[in-house]
Amino acid sequence: MDKVYRKFTENTLIVASHNKGKIKEINHLLAPFGITAKSASELKLDEPEETGETFIENAELKALAAAKASGLPALADDSGYSVAALNGDPGIYSARWAGDHKDFALAMQMVECAMQDKDAQEDDERAAAFICALTLAWPDGHVETFEGRVDGTSIWPPKGSNGFGYDPIFKANGYDRTFAEMDCAEKQKISHRADAFKQLVNACFKAA
Ligand code: IMP
Repeated sequence: MDKVYRKFTENTLIVASHNKGKIKEINHLLAPFGITAKSASELKLDEPEETGETFIENAELKALAAAKASGLPALADDSGYSVAALNGDPGIYSARWAGDHKDFALAMQMVECAMQDKDAQEDDERAAAFICALTLAWPDGHVETFEGRVDGTSIWPPKGSNGFGYDPIFKANGYDRTFAEMDCAEKQKISHRADAFKQLVNACFKAA
């Protein structure tokens, strides 16, 4: 039997993130649905500690914390960069590899150094993916969660200045430019976040 998802029938949603890059992309994805989106940073909601061991656990704990604190449905994304040669690292620790100063030039350098330590030189040894768990949570504790991904290659040196995080070192399969060389609309056609978002829209935003 097909899973029955709870429908989103409200018109206001909290975007449970303090990351400007993510908020911009989520607002871009929400724009066609006429939903008023407020971010957790606008509402000065506390950021819970990410104690989960998976993207899904972290997305659910962030969405639930924001939904319970605001009394409104909340959408949270937990995402990261996963490099096959590094057994999936930095993975759920992607933000933490950039340190307190959110230095992603350093984080990208750390990824590259770790790959060189593994002698990962050829394209087929440099497989990487962005993964995104997206949770819609309601104040009564109900959650709906979806996972999206985009596969590609980790390149060096970094290229491009759009986007955020690890975008300058990621080329999606079939593309010859990095995510940081694409504009927001182009990236959102293929990104991990857009993939998870499509699943959410089909399950929760469309009439049964
Ligand atoms: P968190 O989900 O807040 O724990 O952090 C996710 C981290 O993964 C971000 O800070 C980025 O470093 C990285 N990340 C997630 N999505 C993207 C993306 O679309 N482009 C580049 N980096 C990303």
